[in-house]
This record gives sequence, C-alpha cells and structure tokens, in this order.
Amino acid sequence: MNENKQAPGVYSVPKEWAERAYIDSERYAAMYAASIADPKGFWGEHGKRIHWFKPYGTVKNTSFEPGKVSIKWFEDGTTNVSHNCVDRHLPERGDQIAIIGVRDDPKDDAVRITYRELHAHVMKWANVLQSQGVRKGDNVTLYLPTIPEAAYAMLACARIGAVHSAVSTGLSPDKLGSRIADAASTVVVTADQGPRGGRNNPMKANVDAALDKLPGVVTSVIVVKRTGAPVEMLQGRDHYYDELAMTVPDECPPVEMNAEDPLFLLYTSGSTGKPKGVVHTTGGYLVYAAMTHQYVFDYHVGDIHWCTAELGWITGHSYIVYGPLANGATTLIFEGTPTYPSMSRYWDVIDKHKVSLFYTAPTAIRSLMGSGEDAVKSNSLASLRLLGSVGEPIDPKTWEWYHRVVGGGRCPIVDTWFQTETGGILITPLPGATKLKPGSVGTPFFGVRPELVDEAGDVLDGVENGNLVIADSWPGQMRTLYRDHERFEQEYFSLYPGKYFTGDGARRDADGYYSITGRVDDVINVSGHRIGTAEVESALVAHASVSEAAVVGYPHEIKGQGIYAYVTLIDGEAAADELRKELVSWVRKEIGPIFTIDKVQFALGLPKTTSGKIIRRILRKIAEDKCTEFGDSSTLSNPTVVDHLIDNRLNRK
Ligand code: PRX
Repeated sequence: MNENKQAPGVYSVPKEWAERAYIDSERYAAMYAASIADPKGFWGEHGKRIHWFKPYGTVKNTSFEPGKVSIKWFEDGTTNVSHNCVDRHLPERGDQIAIIGVRDDPKDDAVRITYRELHAHVMKWANVLQSQGVRKGDNVTLYLPTIPEAAYAMLACARIGAVHSAVSTGLSPDKLGSRIADAASTVVVTADQGPRGGRNNPMKANVDAALDKLPGVVTSVIVVKRTGAPVEMLQGRDHYYDELAMTVPDECPPVEMNAEDPLFLLYTSGSTGKPKGVVHTTGGYLVYAAMTHQYVFDYHVGDIHWCTAELGWITGHSYIVYGPLANGATTLIFEGTPTYPSMSRYWDVIDKHKVSLFYTAPTAIRSLMGSGEDAVKSNSLASLRLLGSVGEPIDPKTWEWYHRVVGGGRCPIVDTWFQTETGGILITPLPGATKLKPGSVGTPFFGVRPELVDEAGDVLDGVENGNLVIADSWPGQMRTLYRDHERFEQEYFSLYPGKYFTGDGARRDADGYYSITGRVDDVINVSGHRIGTAEVESALVAHASVSEAAVVGYPHEIKGQGIYAYVTLIDGEAAADELRKELVSWVRKEIGPIFTIDKVQFALGLPKTTSGKIIRRILRKIAEDKCTEFGDSSTLSNPTVVDHLIDNRLNRK
C-alpha cells in the first residue's frame, strides 16, 4: 500500500499506469505543447473522433475580445449527437450494455440496456416528443430522476435537434417554473415520483405547482411512470409516456445538425439573483466530453463507468451520458444516495456491478468517512481501477481516506476541476502522466490555457495565488447565456478583458500544479452545488418578517461550505427559535431542499460602508469565528452593529 508515495503528500505514477494508460508524462507534455502551439491543427485532428455527416473545414473561430466575444468550433461541419452516442456503435457493440440503471431500493433489479435497446428507446422517445409538437430548435424541459429514461429523453432531443434543459430534482417548484418560463418550453418531461434515499419526491405534483403559476406556457407534460403512484393528470395537457409510445412509430432517423446548433441549456447560479441559462452546442461539446472522458478516466473497452452525479447537473450530462456513450462505454445511472439504505450502498453497487471507474463528490466521501472503514471493507472493491472527485475542493484528509480505504492504495484519484460553463474537465491529473498531490487538481487538459491574475488583471508567473482565468477557447466551452449575450460578456469577459474569468481563486505550485481555493465571487458551493448568495437573500427577504438579509458561506465539515444567513427583522420582532426554523423551511420551499440554510443569526443591523454597501468580508469572518481578522474597517458606518453580531455569533470553536 502507498508504495508509490515519493514525498509527503505526493504519489508518483505507478509503472503499470504509465505503461497502460493512453497518456504518459512524455506524451502529455508533447500533446499539451502541440495543443497550445497550434490549436487548429490539434483540434482539427481530434475533432475526427466523432462522426461527421459533413466534415468541418474550419476548426476554430473564436474571439474573447470585449464586445465581440464569439465562440465557434467546427462551424461548417454537420453531425448528430444521438447518432454518435448510439447508432454509430451498433455494428460493433449492439449487444454490449450501454446503461446499467440502478434504482434507489437495492431490492429492485437493475436495468441493463444494450446499445441496440438504447437505440430503440431513443427513437421511440424522439417520436413521442415529436408527437407533442417538439421541433428542431425547441427547448424541452426535463425534470426527471436519475434514471435511464432521462438519458433516453436527452438523446431523443439531440436526435431531432431539440434543446434539452434539465432541471435538478433538488430545486423547488418555483425554481423549476422560472427555468421553464425562461426557456419558454412548451413541453415538460417528468416522472410520477422520484424515489431517492427511501423517500418519494412528488415530481409530477411539483410540475403542477410550477405550471399553476405559468398559465398557457406549457402545452404538454409527458409523465414517466416510475413508481406507478396515482397522480393528477390534466386532461389534454398531461400524458403518460407509455401511452404516447404506443401511438408512434418505432423508427426515427437522426437529424443533421450544424456543429454550432445548441444541444442543451443548463441553468446555473451566478452572483446575481437571476439564474443563467448556459448554452452548449453540438460538435465541440461532444468532442470535448468524449475526449476528456477517455483520457482523464483512461477509459478502455470493458470498463464500467459510474459517475454518481444527478443527471440534471453538468457532471451528469458530460460524464454519465455524453462522454461515456460517445466512447461506446457502459455507464451506470444511479437513482439513489450514498447513505440509503446503509452507509455501504456505494460500495455494494461497485461490487455488484463490477464498477471500474468511480467518480463522485467530496461531500459524499466525507459523509461516508464518518461511519468508519468497516462499511467499506465489507465489500471487496476489487473491480475498481480509478477514482474521481469533482464539484468542490477535496481536503487532503478526505483524499487520503478515499485513496487508502476505497481505492486500496492502488487506484489513482483524478481530482477534476470544471464548471457548468466549461462543458468538460479543464484541469485534472491524467492517471498515467501526472503525479498526484492530495488537494491539487493537477495540470491543464489539452488545449486549456489557465492563468492566474491579480486584481488588476496582471498575469502572475510561477508559484502564486490569484484569480483563475482561461486565456483561450476550448471546444467544450459555453457559447452564450440563453437570450442574453450581453450578460455572458459582462459576467465572464469584462473583469479581465480578453480572458474567460472562472470566478474561482487558485494557487499554482512549483510543478505548475493548480489547487482551487474556492469562489472569489458571491457564490457558495454547498455539497458541490452552486448557489448565489443573492438568490438566498432574495428568498429570505420575500418572507413577511424579514427586513434585510445577507448570506455568506463558511467551512462545513461535510458539505464543504455551509450557508450562514444574517437577518434583520421588520419591527424588531422577537427573534424566536420558531422563526429561525420557519425561515429555514421557507428557503427550502423557495429554492429547494439542496440549499438548506445551516445558520440563521438575527441581527440589529448589517455592517455597511458609509455609502450603504454591506461589508461581506466582516460577515464572512464572523461566520468563520475569526472576529479578530476583519482587516481595514475604517469605512464601517455602524460599529455597534458589529459588536452585536460578534456577541451573538453562532459558530464558536
Ligand atoms: O468553484 C469550483 C467548484 O465548482 C464550481 C463549478 O460549479 P458547477 O458549475 O456547479 O459545476 C460543478 C461540477 C463541475 C467551480 O467554479 N469546483 C468544481 N470542481 C472542483 C471545484 N473546486 C475544487 N476542486 C474541484 N475539483
């Protein structure tokens, strides 16, 4: 065990990995250099990994120039994502399992779907969508559990040129509604219920609640019978998928799409209250998702790939569905949670289905680490070859546990950094090429040019801490924000003109390895999920008792970051525990259960500058119980408020 450890906290690449993996360190260096020196030549070659109906002539046509940001890859090529992820594999691996669907309840049998069956499902789904009026270019909202049907629906949209907009099941009906409205979807796909962790999420009822507030927008709701529970069906609007499927033909050819036609929208949070509809397109996205999946996970035929994300997030899109299926892999789609019905659920699934590539979030590992090693060791985990981590920083202690206990000391860990906006992994170790340093996300993937800049935008060289920007485009990059190109330019390209600003801070060490230090904007990362502080604040002030609210993140043992809310009340109402509970459940209802507030502190007022701006720095320090580290407070207009905040702080060591 740990025989590859070369210096404290550093693991060199084991010999067998350097030999077996697609990319060893020399190849990485050569390919990386080539990808930066000649992006057009490099991607012109690697773009061929997918099938094009009409080959591209132009590879890269991108500009980060302020006012003229425009990103196009393979722009004169035509292809179809569904064809690439399904039909293309039929001659060689029609009978291979494409999807293993594992349900929430371990007593339920897993579903095993071959590529041939997947083909049939996707064509049926495509025809069902068309029967409901969906045409090329239409946006279809998917609000589905993480079940194979969600992948069928995604691929069916891609097949007919429709644009899916998946919404996480952890979001509230209100948030679902605002996403349906923003995308102007006339068709919504959902399930009767979504079992998760032993509970049934009332998904159809949530859709009904969302649509009650959007009269006339949605003309068709397609309902997958997941549990078979009776749900209300509105005559003329709501249809069971099964019933529609009986009325449509079996065959549906893929539509020829331009490389730059949109493939999907995915809403994410930014530092303002309004969610952003991130737009990803067809050709470049697929090339990038497929290539990162192959090289980062060192995917080989026969591997069983399990990414535990929910399908409704970018990780689910790129590393449950599009990357693995474009590579003809077997992908496991898991509906449940790490802790149901027991703390060994993940490990049971790995043994049962012989998972070789396992990709999860630090939060899950931290929640399982607490229950000790025995829950892991009751399984052999012998099938595992490689482990992955994503979504939030993984602290070295958790990394070491994951490596030693789950990976038996023999599986490399790829700690992969990316974002909804980046489409695929940008900074990551490659298992045959990169030394592993717990807490570090390693080096850039091919074609990715990270830089660290200071507040003034000056590029920092060598060992440094700074804001992470990317200096040039890569094929998987988002193209725009849905119907808001101006905001796209403003949020990502204006602070450091000519560069894509990630919103993250990072550190670079002497080997050129990056570590992500966290968001530098007003975004909190809770259990690997992003929420803007402004979104939580506006939910709080919508409550009748609340006058003002300010929300910050603080370090949380399991979730990475917890949500700490400072609240002032109207009429100085009594700050009772009752009200605290009510505000927590109010925000759960407004935004969704994944973003539960951890601490509510009632305040006399919020620290403000003389010009009335809230000084969040002070609030962050109080939430972290670091009340002596406020820095310069000379602009503070109301010091007594701060004394009260400190006296009543809720986190104390
Ligand atoms: O802060 C970074 C963090 O998650 C943010 C992106 O969130 P989202 O768009 O929801 O996508 C999550 C899944 C890719 C980033 O700006 N983040 C993501 N991966 C890592 C990470 N922070 C540290 N280490 C990572 N591996």
